[in-house]
This record gives sequence, structure tokens and C-alpha cells, in this order.
Amino acid sequence: MEAQTLATNLEQREITVRVKRFNEDKGEFWSEYKLSVDRFTQITEVLRRIKTEQDPTLAYRASCHMAVCGSCSMKINGEPRLACKTLALDVVKKFNTDVITLEPMDYFKPLKDLIVDMGDFYTRMFKVKPRLYPAEEVVKGVAEQRLKPEDQRELWKFAQCIWCGLCVSACPAVKEDERFLGPAAHAKGYRFLADPRDTLYEERLKILLDSSWRCTYCYQCFHVCPRDVEPVTTIKKTRAHTKFSKEKTDVMSTGERHVKAIYESIKETGILQEAKVYISTYGLATAITDMLHTMRNGKMKYALIREKKVNEIEQIRKLLGD
Ligand code: SF4
Ligand code: SF4
Ligand code: FES
Repeated sequence: MEAQTLATNLEQREITVRVKRFNEDKGEFWSEYKLSVDRFTQITEVLRRIKTEQDPTLAYRASCHMAVCGSCSMKINGEPRLACKTLALDVVKKFNTDVITLEPMDYFKPLKDLIVDMGDFYTRMFKVKPRLYPAEEVVKGVAEQRLKPEDQRELWKFAQCIWCGLCVSACPAVKEDERFLGPAAHAKGYRFLADPRDTLYEERLKILLDSSWRCTYCYQCFHVCPRDVEPVTTIKKTRAHTKFSKEKTDVMSTGERHVKAIYESIKETGILQEAKVYISTYGLATAITDMLHTMRNGKMKYALIREKKVNEIEQIRKLLGD
């Protein structure tokens, strides 16, 4: 049995690595390399061996090789991943092919080969003031403020972000809406918004709330984060603070109306009445204008679908706490 395990561990397999590359002189181009890997070979090791043994011109970033520094983010067979947290043979098995494709992350501008410009990402991260601002007495050392275990439990997960940018590369909203701070900045922002030791609550609300209503809840950030930070959860939790805000932007008010309309639709019928929710959220005038677009695109039949109320509505109301 032990000899069999040893044989599996030592098994070598030849793979082909296709790398999407870029430089100022040549623009975009692809390079292909062949090498043998075993079950312990991470993609960062694949890249290190290509660079040292085959092609010193290949550029990529990696430092810790243990999912801590956040520098080896890239697309591996189309999926946003950390190269050091990805084993070459796992990719081979998952995609049932000996060809592994490496590309720079989406959304970020490539600088050279797999290295991208993280400038815009850092700007967004620093917009949320990503550090604790404790009380003056604590800073002066004349008082201390301890974090209770229950607060630590709430914040721990969201403090695990390694600034790798993978969630941002997968986020559709960040590409479309420049006023959306993006999933990583929201994770970081909420981590301090919810920290009872922090003194910038009002300021943080102003920074985070409008942006939080610009997320489309597609959950891509949830799926790709290599540290299970769940940025979308922090966005939901941030939205819950809207009631404490003195000023509300249009996006925030629309968002609150939308949540209320969904709640009332479920409470009344047990289902989401899309057309009714839409009218309650955006108002009749906007709904009529949008209906004209819907008619022009031949999709009116979907807007007119009448779903039946669920049979045991009382059960649903009980779940809602009514
Ligand atoms: S859930 Fe929101 S933040 Fe996360 S990827 Fe989708 S739009 Fe972006
Ligand atoms: S939230 Fe996750 S995916 Fe996004 S930057 Fe932080 S660690 Fe990376
Ligand atoms: S090399 Fe540090 S996270 Fe991959």
C-alpha cells in the first residue's frame, strides 16, 4: 500500500502550458511550453521552472507561494485563481486536458505578460480608509479597548483579505459602474465599519453606503475568493446600515424601496411578483417607459405572467416573523 502511494506521489505527467503574454513592443501574443509535473507541482512552480529552464523573458508575480501575499492572481483555464493555491494536476483532472492556459486577470490592464497594473485596485482600497482609527485615549496609551469574542467572530472572516484582486477581476458591476467601490474594498470597509473600536462610523457610512447598493448580487466574488472572505456578505451587511444614514442618495432610496417591495410581495403571495416589485421600486412613469422597451424587444409576455399565490402562505409569513 505504501509503495503504491509513493508511486502515485512520484507519477510524472507531461503538460502543455499556454501563456497569454503582452509587452509594449509586440502587443498581445501567446507562448507555449512543455514540462513534466507531479501531484505537488503548483502553478507558481510551473512558472518558476519555465522562467529558469526555458524562457527567462516570461514575467509573472509571486512571492509567498502559500496564499498569503496575494500577488500571483491570474486566470487559469479561464478561472480567476491564485497560481500558488492551484495544483497543475488538479487543473488537468478538472478540465480533462493536458493543456493549461494562463492569462492575466480580467479587468486589470496588463503591464507585462501575467503582471497587471493594480493601481486602480489600490486606489479603491485606500478610499475606504483600510485601517482602524481608535479613540484618542487609546492612541495616547491612557486607555485600552478590547474586542469582545463575539465581535472578533463577526470580523474575523472579513479581515482575511490578502488584496489579491481576484474578486474585482470577476465582478461585472465594477466594470460597468465607476462609482462602485468593488467587492474587496467593501470587504475591507465593512471590516472597520463593524469594528466597535473604530471612531469613523459616520464617515465610513458616507463612503460605503451608496456604493453598496450598486452591487448586482451575482455572487462571483463569493465563488472566486481564495480566502473565503465573502465580499458580497459584507455588502449585504453594509446595506443594513442604510437606516442609520441621515442623507440618502437616489441609489440608496431606490434600493430600500426594492427591498421593501420584495418583502411585501413575498408576505402577500409567497412569490416574487416581478412586475409589481418593479413598479413599486421605480414608480409608474419609469415602469411605463421600460414597458415600451419590453414591447419593442418582444418580451412583454414575460412581464404579464401571473403567478399563483402559494397554498400555505401562513407558513411563509411565519418564516418572515409576521
Ligand atoms: S456580488 Fe456584487 S460585488 Fe460580488 S461580484 Fe457580483 S456585483 Fe461584484
Ligand atoms: S476579498 Fe478575497 S478575492 Fe477579493 S481581494 Fe480579498 S482575498 Fe482577494
Ligand atoms: S505567491 Fe503569494 S499568494 Fe500566491
